[in-house]
Amino acid sequence: MRALIDALPEPVMLVARNGVVQAANQAAADLFGPHIQGARVRAYLRQPEVAAMLEGAFALIDDPGRPHAARMVITEPAAETTWQVTARALPPGAGFAGLVISLHDISHREAAEAQRRDFVANVSHELRSPLTVLTGFIETLQGAAARDEHARQEFLDIMAREAARMTGLVQDLLSLSRVEASERIRPRDPVAMDDVLRATIAALRPQIDGAGLALDLTLPDDLPSIPGDHDQLVQVFHNLLENAVKYGGAGGRIDISGRVLRACPGLEGPVLRVSVTDHGDGVDPIHIPRLTERFYRVDRARSRDQGGTGLGLAIVKHIINRHRGRLVIRSNPETGSTFEVLLPCTAPAPPHDPGSATPPSR
Ligand SMILES: Nc1ncnc2c1ncn2[C@@H]1O[C@H](COP(=O)(O)OP(=O)(O)OP(=O)(O)O)[C@@H](O)[C@H]1O
Ligand SMILES: [Mg+2]
Repeated sequence: MRALIDALPEPVMLVARNGVVQAANQAAADLFGPHIQGARVRAYLRQPEVAAMLEGAFALIDDPGRPHAARMVITEPAAETTWQVTARALPPGAGFAGLVISLHDISHREAAEAQRRDFVANVSHELRSPLTVLTGFIETLQGAAARDEHARQEFLDIMAREAARMTGLVQDLLSLSRVEASERIRPRDPVAMDDVLRATIAALRPQIDGAGLALDLTLPDDLPSIPGDHDQLVQVFHNLLENAVKYGGAGGRIDISGRVLRACPGLEGPVLRVSVTDHGDGVDPIHIPRLTERFYRVDRARSRDQGGTGLGLAIVKHIINRHRGRLVIRSNPETGSTFEVLLPCTAPAPPHDPGSATPPSR
């Protein structure tokens, strides 16, 4: 029995009828400390829900096969973990009379569920406000404003804007899910970064000029191409440059510069660094770690006025992850913001072709 539970990766204890832990495997000792062996299990599993579950299991100890389960949260300074605790009595003749208590770490499952709930709540909330506006104006146009030509034009303009906002949200959600789905496969097409940047700037030229901004692009002549996905990289710089125009416009100037670094901590081989810098209002550094979260906006009202939903940087982060690169954000209200995109220059090893005789070199 001892050897058996030691071979299991998750915490398992054998607890005698009198509540004393007869054996605890290494994972259980890691979780509860070395003194768990020989201790009273009730002293360790004290949270009310787990304690009640244990009492039920001890009361039905002669009814083997019926599992009892409860959820337990362990709070440690570094992190909080959530466990599913299961107690089951062994059948007579199993070589041990008592309960087998096992713990299963469900922290990730719970976190994923919470994330999914938040996501659905956020999407519904974002879709609800334009829908409310649209429904309101449709009713007005059907009733009071039916014959008012001037009001009709004005309302139709607002309706078109709200519909465009919903389309934008749906497009962003689709591109986020597409990038997430392909994140494990690193793209390998050679991409010329000057093309990417020039295409991005050309597409955003009307907004840049409209905001009266000067744009300075500094690239070395010998910029290498990097392995990547052209369209996704355009999307990265489109989102970054659009943000610089929207939130950094007060600075009057945007600088984009590229450079090859011979090495960069945490990344393989030489790295292409492209920085997008504005000299606008910046953000308080406390917000920086959260900027790439979906739907996170520092100033909700301001971003919403500009038609933003807070998905732009989440998409940027996923695309850069897919390229095995890194995004570094520096910002403060005095100097403005710099978004640095770091992308490895060397191509990934070709995928293994099972038909070829020689294994791919690394
Ligand atoms: N250059 C910048 N200067 C100041 N704040 C910025 C800058 N870039 C992003 N932010 C802040 O980060 C938030 C998140 O940016 P993100 O691009 O993800 O969303 P958004 O621009 O609000 O909406 P979307 O990009 O989906 O249209 C913004 O709402 C803004 O508060
Ligand atoms: Mg944005």
